[in-house]
Amino acid sequence: MKRILLLECSPHRQEASGSQMARQLIARRWPSAEVIERDLAGEPLPPVSAEYASALTGSAPFDDPAFACSEVLIAELEASDCLIIVTPMHNFNVPAALKLWIDYVLRIHRSFTTSAQGKVGLLQDRPTLVLVSAGGFYHGEQARQSDFLSAYLRHVLSTLGITQVEFVHQQGMALGAESVQAALNAVLPQLEKTTNFFSSPPRR
Ligand SMILES: Cc1cc2nc3c(=O)[nH]c(=O)nc-3n(C[C@H](O)[C@H](O)[C@H](O)COP(=O)(O)O)c2cc1C
Repeated sequence: MKRILLLECSPHRQEASGSQMARQLIARRWPSAEVIERDLAGEPLPPVSAEYASALTGSAPFDDPAFACSEVLIAELEASDCLIIVTPMHNFNVPAALKLWIDYVLRIHRSFTTSAQGKVGLLQDRPTLVLVSAGGFYHGEQARQSDFLSAYLRHVLSTLGITQVEFVHQQGMALGAESVQAALNAVLPQLEKTTNFFSSPPRR
């Protein structure tokens, strides 16, 4: 059975339009999939502690208690064969809740290693969809602000070994009802262009 890890990063939780879109997509494409949900905004992860920081930089063993939260989150990734991230843009980047998840999952010696060529991911590649919601425009012809989110998240995921990443942009969500409707209307055509999540036949 297909296992999907769904990372939800909006303070609006399941009320966020991106979350509803992701759930509809899953129900339509993979009705029998097992969905592992991680509500990063609604059930925040603990802040990075001194113990975790020391264990990470001190190359502590994987079973060090300081790695407990990190191990759970990495295991969720390892147990899934596809990843969906639903996230708002917060100040041109990922929200703090998602950044914290990254700080636990992107872990030297565990999820990536180093080589003469740079960092190398240790996790299996898998189809990944990132659904971004933003109040203004950061992508395309109407972009009027910097976008540190897309390149950053792509880089983080590729450092883990995840390169099959496709983005869907829901923009102009804070610019009035007409703009919101236009943004929602623009999502389906973008999804239809994704190769891993819409056009291709279900993998299993
Ligand atoms: C703290 C905070 C920072 C934000 N920063 C940006 C930003 O940099 N650019 C932008 O276009 N919208 C920004 N917004 C607006 C949200 O991205 C927008 O409302 C989005 O649609 C929220 O999606 P959600 O309902 O999935 O949480 C910000 C909102 C908050 C709460």
